[in-house]
Amino acid sequence: MSKNKIFLSVKIFDLGSKGQSIAKSDEGIVLMVKNGVPGDVVDIKTYRKKKNYFLGNIIKYHSYSKNRIDPTCKHFGVCGGCKLQNISYHTQTELKEDKIKHSITRIFNDAKINPIIRCDNQFFYRNKLEFSFTDNKWLTEAEIKNSDNKIDRRGIGFHKAGMWDKIVDVEKCHLQIEPSNKIRLSLKQFAIKNNISFYNTRLKKGLLRTLTIRNTSMNQFMVLVQFFENDKKNINLVMQFLKESFDEIHSLLYTVNDKENDSIYDRDIKLFNGKNYIEEKINSLIFKIYPKSFFQTNIQQTLKLYEIIQDYAKIKKNEIVYDLYSGLGTISQFVAKQSKKVIGVESVEEAVISATNSAKENKINNVVFEFGDMKNVFTKNFILKHGKPDVIITDPPREGMHKDVIKEILKLNTPKIVYVSCNPSTQCRDLEILKEKYNMVKVQPLDMFPHTDHVENIVLLELK
Ligand SMILES: C[S@@+](CC[C@H](N)C(=O)[O-])C[C@H]1O[C@@H](n2cnc3c(N)ncnc32)[C@H](O)[C@@H]1O
Repeated sequence: MSKNKIFLSVKIFDLGSKGQSIAKSDEGIVLMVKNGVPGDVVDIKTYRKKKNYFLGNIIKYHSYSKNRIDPTCKHFGVCGGCKLQNISYHTQTELKEDKIKHSITRIFNDAKINPIIRCDNQFFYRNKLEFSFTDNKWLTEAEIKNSDNKIDRRGIGFHKAGMWDKIVDVEKCHLQIEPSNKIRLSLKQFAIKNNISFYNTRLKKGLLRTLTIRNTSMNQFMVLVQFFENDKKNINLVMQFLKESFDEIHSLLYTVNDKENDSIYDRDIKLFNGKNYIEEKINSLIFKIYPKSFFQTNIQQTLKLYEIIQDYAKIKKNEIVYDLYSGLGTISQFVAKQSKKVIGVESVEEAVISATNSAKENKINNVVFEFGDMKNVFTKNFILKHGKPDVIITDPPREGMHKDVIKEILKLNTPKIVYVSCNPSTQCRDLEILKEKYNMVKVQPLDMFPHTDHVENIVLLELK
């Protein structure tokens, strides 16, 4: 079939990845398009053939879905974040639930999936945002039309959907509470006024590279500025400005990163003012969050997540628990009281040190944390040292678990596994292997990230 084909009056029926939606022609041809909402009836012109589907553009809307709503954010459709803002929240979450149902029942066909747990706050729910500076911001069609070629291209915001080198200059972001927008906008104005250069991704030059803002429910803010060049005078100027302008910043940090990518994990982070951490409270437990440590990004939903884990694990006082991919040791400490002992494993050293210290400060003395990559640390010797687990709680990153880790887990015959994941496709890949020895008992989808296609999923497995 030619790639420039027109399909008339097809119905969008589902969401694909990266903000795309899916339609199917009468002949069963799958079409992926942008700007569609499940329920829209549209004409589509295809422009590229992929292995199992065609990419296309909507050329006419015959009728709009009843689930469409007006997006709240003026950057919707251009900015790479919040791609589902034009779909009612109820429908977004129904679609996420369907996605979990579909992927889990392919592996465990009689699995019962609980209704998704929704988020009370659909905006300003994130406690961490990373913005990128640019000296070549993305221009909207209106800006190009109305410009006299003298637009100031300096900006700070998020990547344009699907484009690694294009940054959308964000005026107001609806994801993080104030003073997040205020800090970003005033830093931009200050830098422009003082002629401090913004980063250019292609040319690899410019001082200001990224700005990360984190906050906690204890109203503490962390600000980390990443510079591309080691220009001490201007670094000092920027940091001094932030220090003097925002009393809310408890932890003011910076780093110099002249590498190709902007990951900070191998960088030396310098403290400019305040403390090098901020604190978060979960129930009565206090955790210190350092710049390189993972922390769940939606704190209201995190408490619900941990309660589900606790309920699924139903740990007894004489039981040993493994908390794999333990981050700051939050889950370990949350379940410690019900357990004999908990062993956490985590690959970020700073997080392991913080987990160990916070356990002491929280007066929990039956948890230990091991530092290292799971696939190297989780060995026969590890099991000999800590004892066989009665319950495994695993919460890996988006990539899921390494196959060697799953192999080790299968050798242990642990009665219960609680598998928490923010990526259903890698979770299902891993479950497919675990199925050899495990039954699926419970599945609970949880929405942590409104307006995005991400969804958290918790499953309880029991040994056959
Ligand atoms: C989704 S987070 C979960 C953290 C924690 N359970 C929580 O609730 O905050 C995944 C964690 O796994 C860690 N991690 C990633 N790859 C790892 C690996 N190969 N071995 C050990 N830990 C890893 C990350 O640093 C991160 O802290």
